[in-house]
Amino acid sequence: MKVPFIDILRFENGFYETVTQKAAELIKNGHFVGGPVVGQFESALKDYTQTAFALGCANGTDAIQLALRAAGVKKNDKVLLPDMTFWATFESVVNVGAIPYTLDVSRETLHLTVASVKEGIEKFKPQALILVHLYGWACPETVEIRKLCKEHNVTLIEDCAQAIGTKINGESLIGGASAATTSFYPAKVLGASGDAGGVFFKEAQVAKDCQILINHGRTGHYDHGMIGWNSRLGAYEASFMLESLKHLDAKLASRRHTCERYRKEIKNPALKFIAPAASVWENGYLSVAVMDPTTRPAFIEYLKKHEIGYGTVYPGAMSEQPGATGHIGGKISHGHADWVAKSVINLPCFAYMKQEEVDFVIKTVNDYK
Ligand SMILES: Cc1ncc(COP(=O)(O)O)c(C=O)c1O
Repeated sequence: MKVPFIDILRFENGFYETVTQKAAELIKNGHFVGGPVVGQFESALKDYTQTAFALGCANGTDAIQLALRAAGVKKNDKVLLPDMTFWATFESVVNVGAIPYTLDVSRETLHLTVASVKEGIEKFKPQALILVHLYGWACPETVEIRKLCKEHNVTLIEDCAQAIGTKINGESLIGGASAATTSFYPAKVLGASGDAGGVFFKEAQVAKDCQILINHGRTGHYDHGMIGWNSRLGAYEASFMLESLKHLDAKLASRRHTCERYRKEIKNPALKFIAPAASVWENGYLSVAVMDPTTRPAFIEYLKKHEIGYGTVYPGAMSEQPGATGHIGGKISHGHADWVAKSVINLPCFAYMKQEEVDFVIKTVNDYK
């Protein structure tokens, strides 16, 4: 049996027919950019995430740049971020003219800790921090990090590209953030039919500024109060996601079930599964295990031989990327992010995986010697 790492075409019954019919209506009505469906999607997204303001934009990278700009991050400001994340987090800081500083992550939780953020604030005196929530989890020390940033007047942006629907202490992770962003790249938990992203705020003024930035800094049709850019969400993507949002709880349940089965049923000592903290309700974006870095290449060959897809999210620390040269302002490293990059392994996980596919992955991994 062949099991892909991800299959983004496992739609719910009737989904394809509904979205194609809705797309035909948009084309007939000439609603290509904007129009009522974008507002309807933003309103549904706001309700789902229990936030005060939810805005659609062009992609998850723009979302971070928009949030940084709307929250007042300026040229040459210092911005902390974890060394273990997707490159877009690092890139966004540079793209808004600010300077990225990377912090190490914990080997146990794979996320930032209050201690690492405290060390970064003391050493670099930053204006902002991007707290990244990876794998569909939340950083277990989110509440304490939010408090610490407030005490030190550090602007906090939470990169929730992988964490839509995730909860911490029973509450929406995005809903509890002052400023958060997400990605609707098709492979994400809530994927669009193309590129798309979302920005979330608690405060009305910041949300208003962000809305202006999304649309060329427009304050009137030909009045431009700010230097923004074109990061508008397309009508077709909004329509597709509005329909998909209706099924999001079912998608999350299916993904979570797979992650839980792997953690419970894979007994091979070569892999150590990591679960999110007890306070975190994961959305099932990725299954995460670590292994001795020297054994990972052989295990990957074994998975390939048995036609099982896999991921190594992410295989390199940000500060080690060639593109960081000349941009990175500083880093605090204890070697943990590097270790995670060499050790992490992700098994197939996507919405509506068949139980026989999950069974096959579990058996094949358990049989690995
Ligand atoms: C943690 C993280 N941040 C930002 C992004 C960027 O999102 P996009 O690809 O929609 O620009 C991603 C997408 O993979 C991500 O995983």
